[in-house]
Amino acid sequence: MLILLEGFWKWLLDFGLASPRWTVEDMPDLTGKVAIVTGGNAGIGYDTAKGLLRKNATVYIGARSIPKAEAAIKSLVDATGNPKVFILKMDLSDLGTVKQAAKEFQSKEGKLHILINNAGILSTEMDVFTAQGYDQQFGTNVLGHYFFSKLLMPLMESTAATLPSNDPVRLVELTSDGHVFNTNSYTLIDYDTLKPGKGRDRMDPLQSYYQSKSGNLLVSKARARLLTGKNTVSICVHPGRIKSALIHQLSGMEYFTARVIAYPSHMGPITSLYAATAPEAAQFNGKYLGPWARVKNPRSDHVGNIQAEDKLITWLEEQIRIHNRV
Ligand SMILES: *[C@@H]1O[C@H](CO)[C@@H](O)[C@H](O)[C@H]1NC(C)=O
Repeated sequence: MLILLEGFWKWLLDFGLASPRWTVEDMPDLTGKVAIVTGGNAGIGYDTAKGLLRKNATVYIGARSIPKAEAAIKSLVDATGNPKVFILKMDLSDLGTVKQAAKEFQSKEGKLHILINNAGILSTEMDVFTAQGYDQQFGTNVLGHYFFSKLLMPLMESTAATLPSNDPVRLVELTSDGHVFNTNSYTLIDYDTLKPGKGRDRMDPLQSYYQSKSGNLLVSKARARLLTGKNTVSICVHPGRIKSALIHQLSGMEYFTARVIAYPSHMGPITSLYAATAPEAAQFNGKYLGPWARVKNPRSDHVGNIQAEDKLITWLEEQIRIHNRV
C-alpha cells in the first residue's frame, strides 16, 4: 500500500503536480559564504553546487578530472550567472591529493562555512583498492572524506567563532538508507575486509558499499559529539534514490530496479541543501536527515552506538597517522 502511495506521489512529481515541502527556492541568501562540495562536477553534487551558487555563495567543487570539472564550471556559471565557482582538484581515493586540496583551499580562502562531503562511489569490484591500499569504497567514501574534513577542521572552527549561534558552520556528510542492508552487527564495520586479505572473501561490492555508508553515519555522529558547543553542526544526509550517475555503476537487474524506483535528478540536492543552509537545520547537530528534508531514524544500532563510533574514529586516525606523509 505504501509503495502504491509513494508510486503515485512520484508520478505526480514527475509531471510537476506535486512538490516537496522544502525546495531549493526556500534557501536563504548565501552572500559571503564559502562552501565546498566534493564530487561537485556531476550528479547530486553538481545540482547541490548549483543551488548554492544561485543564492550567491562561493563554491569550490572537489573533482578528480580537470576537464570534466572545467565543463561543469562553465555550465554552472551559465545556469546561475554566479562566477564564484572554482575547482579543487582531488581524488578521495588518494590521501596525498586530499591533503594537497585542503592546502590549496586554505591558501585561497580564509573561511569555510559549509562542507558537503557528497562524493561517493558505488559497487566497485573487490579487487580495486585506493592509492594507499584500502577497499576502494571505504577508502573513498569514508577515509578520504574523514581526512579532508579533519584537515579543514581548524578553518571551520575559526570560521564558526565569527558566526552567530543561529547560523553555525555546517558539516554535511552524505550516507544512504542502504546502510540498513549492512549485515555487520555490533561495531558495524568488519575491519578485516578493509585491506587485501582473506577477510575480503566475506564481502561483495554492494555489501562493501553498505558498510561504507554505515561508516559515514558513524563518522557524522562521532563528530557531532566532538563539535558540541563549537558552533558547528555535523549532519548526515540520505539524499533519496535519485537518477544520478551513480546508478550507472550498477549492472543488469540492479540498474533496472534503481531506474524504476529512482526520483528525478532535480530533487537530489534538496536534503543536502536543507542541512547546509536552512535556519531550522542549525538545531540538527548529530541528526540523520532523509528525503525530502526530514529528520529520520537510521537503523537503531547506528544510534548512540558510541563503541562503534569510537572504534571507527580510532581506526581512521591510525590510518591517517600511517599515511599522513604521503
Ligand atoms: C553576491 O556576492 C558578492 C560578493 O561575493 C557581492 O558583492 C554581491 O553584492 C552579491 N550579490 C547579491 C545579489 O547579493
